[in-house]
Formats: sequence, C-alpha cells, structure tokens
Amino acid sequence: MKVLVATDKPFAQVAVDGIRKEIENAGYTLALLEKYGEKARLLEAVADADALIIRSDVVDAEVLDAAKQLKIVVRAGAGYDNVDLAAATAHGVCVMNTPGQNSNAVAELAFGLMVMAVRNLYNGTSGTELKGKKLGIHAYGNVGRNVARIAKGFGMDILAYDAFPAAVEAMKQDGITPVDSAEELYAQCNVVSLHIPATAETKGSIGHDLVGRMLKGGVLINTARKEVIDEEGMLKLLGERTDLKYMTDIMPVRHAEFQEVAAGRYFSTPKKMGAQTAEANINAGIAAARQIVGFLKDGCERFRVNK
Ligand code: 3PG
Repeated sequence: MKVLVATDKPFAQVAVDGIRKEIENAGYTLALLEKYGEKARLLEAVADADALIIRSDVVDAEVLDAAKQLKIVVRAGAGYDNVDLAAATAHGVCVMNTPGQNSNAVAELAFGLMVMAVRNLYNGTSGTELKGKKLGIHAYGNVGRNVARIAKGFGMDILAYDAFPAAVEAMKQDGITPVDSAEELYAQCNVVSLHIPATAETKGSIGHDLVGRMLKGGVLINTARKEVIDEEGMLKLLGERTDLKYMTDIMPVRHAEFQEVAAGRYFSTPKKMGAQTAEANINAGIAAARQIVGFLKDGCERFRVNK
C-alpha cells in the first residue's frame, strides 16, 4: 500500500518524520510530494496511491479520476472545502479531516493579528490594549474555543455566536456569553474573530452590512477562509469607515485594492500561516497517518466527512 503526502505547503520536517514512522510501522510505503506547484505533478503522483494526506491542496474530480487505486483522503486539518466530497463519494473514496489538531496554532495566530491591529501595525504610534475590550468569536468550534481560552488571559470580555446548539452549550460551559445572531455579535464588539467554515451558506456572508455594525475602531480578524468575505462589500466599507481594520491570514483576491483603500489598517500574511507550526503539523499529520492506518487495517471511519 502506498500513502502519498501531497502538500504544496510542506509540513515541518519533524512532522514528516512522524508520519513516515506511523506509515512504515504499519507496513506501508510513504511517498512525498512537496511544493509541487503544477497540478500535473499531483495528477502523476496520485496514480498509484492507495491513500492521500493533504492540507489545503485541491482534490477535485480530475485528481480523483487520476487516482485509480485511491481509497482514502485525509485532510490534515479542519476545513475540507478543498475536497470535492460528492466526487469522492462517486469514486468510492473516503474523506476525513483531523478536527482540533491544529486549532491552538490558528487561535494563537488570531491573537498575533489582534495585537498587531491594536498597536497600529507596529508603526510607532500609540495604540490600544485588548484588556477590557469586547471580543466576538464568530463560530464556536475547536478554534473558537481556543480563542476564548486565550482571550481570558488577555482579560477580554468574550461573546460568541454559533448557530449550532452544541456550540452554545460549549460556550456556557466555558463561561462565554452567547448572543443570538451574528448581527448582534458584530454590533457589540470591538474585535471579531472569524472561525466559520467556507460552505455554500457562508461564502460571501461577511461584508458591508455585518462588519459595518462594529463599534468605532473595530477590528475584524480572519484566520478562517477568504471565500467567506464579500470582498466588494468589505472594500466599500473600509473606504467609508476609516476607523475599521481588517487583518487576515488568507490573502484576498483583491489584496492590492485592500492595501490601497485601507493603508495602515489592513494586513495579510503572504501565505496562510495559522496552522504552520511544528506542533500543529505533528498533531494533524500524525493523526492523519493513524486515521489512514485505522481505515485500511480495521475499516475505522471515525472523522469521515463524506457519505
Ligand atoms: C485548516 O482548515 O485546518 C486550516 O485552515 C489550516 O490549513 P493549512 O493546512 O492549509 O495550513
């Protein structure tokens, strides 16, 4: 059995070593395709793979067509919007993610961006502090929950919105104030941290009207997905509300326009860095390897996300 790790944005070497150990101990072979750039290289590498470990790498019908022996794809991470689930099901391929494994790393970066925002992107002028400010956590999953834990250390007043009753239950357990709608969350907060997945319902849902409800000097932090932002609406808003800041770990399609419209109030990492720590790579990578071994040896389908 051949397990292919295909990561255009590679894991830390220590994580690759750990994945290799898990795979080889199970009697399988590990193949590595890093920084492949061209999709053609991925199509070639998947041809004889039985299992695939990916990150934000796109697995669509074309990749699945090329992967004739493929039985399982594990997205080493949380969001699986990069995998065509229906096509995978049609090809008889199981798709899993590794929920929670990289969530602390992403949550820590949200605070990196938050501090950078309130200290005016480190431009030397006097900023503000996070202590005592109202933080809105938009979606209370694994990352949102870690954001809440860290925010307590900063002394922030924490509110959260999530449509799922289980998440509201988790907020109550954590002593976080649940609010009834996203509109209410934005209207009450100095800082909002986005943790919604990119789905048909959420794509383009964060824009002019919602973010425009934020308090004066508001900061929006995006460590989730660029697709959830309505870029046209955000650009318009940032032009109108020169008090607002937008900090993102996922570069918008219209990055240059954001830089122009919100100079000194906008920052994007050049490449998504949220899960890019040795710890997150080890946790997610090894979990992915173990899930593959469990699936191939025992048919274990825990964390399966397609039908
Ligand atoms: C995730 O969904 O797990 C995060 O966005 C991290 O994505 P990455 O593995 O591409 O860095």
